[in-house]
Amino acid sequence: MMHRDRDVMAAALFLGERGRGRTGANPHVGCIITRRGHVIARGWTQPGGRPHAEAQALAQLSGSLEGATVFVTLEPCAHDSPRGPACADLLADARPDRVVIAAHDADPRTEGKGIARLHDSGIMVTHGVMAAEAHRSMAGFFTRQQHGRPHVTLKLATSLDGRIAMADGASRWITGDRARAHGHSLRARSDAILVGGGTFRADAPRLDVRIAGLADRAPQRVLLTRGDVPAGWTGIDAPENIADLPGNYLLVEGGAETAAAFLRADLVDRLILYRAPILIGDGRAALGDIGLDRLADAHDRWHLADTRMLGSDRLEVYER
Ligand SMILES: NC(=O)c1ccc[n+]([C@@H]2O[C@H](COP(=O)([O-])OP(=O)(O)OC[C@H]3O[C@@H](n4cnc5c(N)ncnc54)[C@H](OP(=O)(O)O)[C@@H]3O)[C@@H](O)[C@H]2O)c1
Repeated sequence: MMHRDRDVMAAALFLGERGRGRTGANPHVGCIITRRGHVIARGWTQPGGRPHAEAQALAQLSGSLEGATVFVTLEPCAHDSPRGPACADLLADARPDRVVIAAHDADPRTEGKGIARLHDSGIMVTHGVMAAEAHRSMAGFFTRQQHGRPHVTLKLATSLDGRIAMADGASRWITGDRARAHGHSLRARSDAILVGGGTFRADAPRLDVRIAGLADRAPQRVLLTRGDVPAGWTGIDAPENIADLPGNYLLVEGGAETAAAFLRADLVDRLILYRAPILIGDGRAALGDIGLDRLADAHDRWHLADTRMLGSDRLEVYER
């Protein structure tokens, strides 16, 4: 049973990923309902955060859920909202035999109460199935809960010698098509995307999503500047002010001074490096001053979470 629980939960986590970068401050949850080993309904958190994944899946079914198991990647919410009833109540009314949950919800309005309500209705509950994977998948939601700010990914495209631009500032392009397409897929999965004033003036970046079918997923554009904010952009004047930005995922695309400012403020959760097989020499370094005094302090901060080739460029993902 546990083996199969994990398989279905893994599929539910993939479904939940469809909502990443689109659910506002809500978690992007996935839900699968099975009966006798067959999937009978699926749902994931919809754009804007509602309907929730469970409500979306339950809406595909009518009649009793006798004999059914509901797999959900986060503890069902226990609070009513003007935008819909609590998912724990919806599930209690639907009466499946069992509910399998991955991660607990630390929101005080739900914490443990969602599970208790299911128990009280006589529904069997299994929780903690793929909890670590669920925490990783919904890192943005948990970062908001714990730190009151979005999860921050810093993305940099560098040469082998760690340069992000020529000495004259030219940086188009360091990496090839596949790495750049991957970068656009990151944008499609973020709520907001930020560059510094220097990059804005040097590159006039559009920060859109140039992938067929995903053009409507362009995130909110954010400028780090002490100066004027152009129309169509949101401005912040310090990295510490990211708390008010929309959604759970912020992508920082540089340049060097901006990247360093975020690292100095200890506000980077994930580093994504695209390393091109080129040498630039006397160009612009990837980072300005990150406030490091002793070399020893640089160690044991980052671990490699993923690496692979994208064409002739190497992708490296590091996490805290
Ligand atoms: N290869 C890559 O991945 C990549 C990515 C992006 C950019 N680039 C290249 O990088 C170069 C630009 O980098 P850069 O280091 O010169 O500039 P930058 O980091 O893009 O921008 C620096 C500006 O950001 C604002 N800023 C930085 N830290 C701040 C803080 N703590 N508080 C408030 N505002 C802050 C200021 O804007 P204001 O002056 O407006 O106040 C500052 O002048 C360009 O050549 C660009 O092509 C390369």
